[in-house]
Amino acid sequence: MEIRLGTISEIRKESFDALVLISFEGKPIRKIFSDALTKFINGVIESEKFKSSFGEVIVVHRPSIPKKFNFNKIVIVGGGKENKFDVESLRKIGSIVSKGASKYNYSSCVFLVDWNVNKVDKIYGFKGLVEGLLLGTYKFDKFISKKEEKNENKLSSVFVVKPVVKYDLNKIIHNTKIVIDSVFLARDLQNLPSNIATPSYISDVVKAECEKVGIRVKVIDKNEARELGMNLFLAVSKGSNEEPKFVVMEYEGGGDKWYGLIGKGITFDTGGISLKPSDKMEDMKFDMSGAASVIGTIIAVAKIGLKVNVVGIVPLTENMPGGSATKPGDIVRGMGGIFVEIVNTDAEGRLILADALEYVKRYKPEFVIDIATLTGACVVALGNEAAGLLGNDDNLKSILKKSSQRTFERVWELPLWEEYDEYIKSDFADVKNVGNRYGGAITASAFLKKFVDYKWAHLDIAGTAYSEKDKYYIPKGGTGFGVRLLVDVLESIEKHESSFNS
Ligand code: BES
Ligand code: ZN
Ligand code: ZN
Repeated sequence: MEIRLGTISEIRKESFDALVLISFEGKPIRKIFSDALTKFINGVIESEKFKSSFGEVIVVHRPSIPKKFNFNKIVIVGGGKENKFDVESLRKIGSIVSKGASKYNYSSCVFLVDWNVNKVDKIYGFKGLVEGLLLGTYKFDKFISKKEEKNENKLSSVFVVKPVVKYDLNKIIHNTKIVIDSVFLARDLQNLPSNIATPSYISDVVKAECEKVGIRVKVIDKNEARELGMNLFLAVSKGSNEEPKFVVMEYEGGGDKWYGLIGKGITFDTGGISLKPSDKMEDMKFDMSGAASVIGTIIAVAKIGLKVNVVGIVPLTENMPGGSATKPGDIVRGMGGIFVEIVNTDAEGRLILADALEYVKRYKPEFVIDIATLTGACVVALGNEAAGLLGNDDNLKSILKKSSQRTFERVWELPLWEEYDEYIKSDFADVKNVGNRYGGAITASAFLKKFVDYKWAHLDIAGTAYSEKDKYYIPKGGTGFGVRLLVDVLESIEKHESSFNS
């Protein structure tokens, strides 16, 4: 999709399939182009009893407007109550407009936004609109054979009437396209079933994609993992016939500091010997969503050319039962020497993360963020609206909260008080991998904390990584949650690099 910027006078020189406008509840449209056109549109809104509730759409075909405007149709999108309108509203409306292209049949449009609406920040508002337009085009139809059943997105060109700001808006378009491509890569990796997206497949995709953008990739295989003592990672992979791959990506953008990202990459989580019930087990192909976010993030950061060094680590393996699978009660020595009693083989994410949290120490990272579909308990606590945020550094958590507000990839902090350490005390080893019945999202983090001696934050995305229904720019299936958030974090680090020390 081509997104262009321009002024109202430039519109008159071209013809477009549609003019898109936003109207608000109980308010007439403010003047656009001419009094005659404004009156015409307000007349339509009134006669059609269009309430302008948020997301409602009305289309006027072949409007009788002056010849100097060349539109085949006018698309009016309800913006709801004007005093509630914000950047997220623009993101949602962007997706309504791009999805509406096939439904209402337009492939080019002019998007006229009153940039003074409700004091919305013009730069972030514009970015939100671009994100929504692009995110709304996502389709995953690789395995649908009949062409007629594929719902192609038709919107090929959008002309946005630009806000007046002292900022390079074309740079926003350029960088946002890069980030959304990465969100789509993450969504594709998530949506692919586990018989295709095996650890080997994903590590091959990582190698190919990273090579294009100058990211170094090291793939640690089973033998090397054994030599390195990654026994927790290997303990999870033991029941599977698929080769595990521990993938390390290094992007050197500048300076001498390293920032670490770690993503849980369980390509399918059966639970292992602590087998999961079969209802909804198919969703466990999404258990590599953290890995997908890290892969998408580091590729976007490299394409944008951020001047920071990032190491992305994604341990990839299946969690299967079988004759050689790890059994409840087994005790395994982690890479850093900590003995873990594996009481429940379904609490496997924290085991592979533990070895990654250990491995990343060789980079002496300024901070590390891990992202993982870690616990059902987090979904119980927060539903599908926010990722759980836990960690040992207030400054890092506050950076994540700010990025979360900007991107609307929401996070919500849960406590990580030392009292929780009691919950995972083992009678037979240094620590056990599960707590008791309550506080499951927190005890998982208390476990991870044992392997960390640097500034660290953990994002539990079990409730946000995939969606059961289409919601504006969030599709059913893999959401790519985390890519926009983590890119924003690294952008803010680049801006304030010298000031990250708490
Ligand atoms: N992959 C699951 C967590 C999960 C649950 C992700 C629902 C997405 C949706 C994780 O490996 C797991 O099974 N966790 C267990 C931990 C328990 C055994 C302590 C859980 O949450 O039930
Ligand atoms: Zn599990
Ligand atoms: Zn899992």
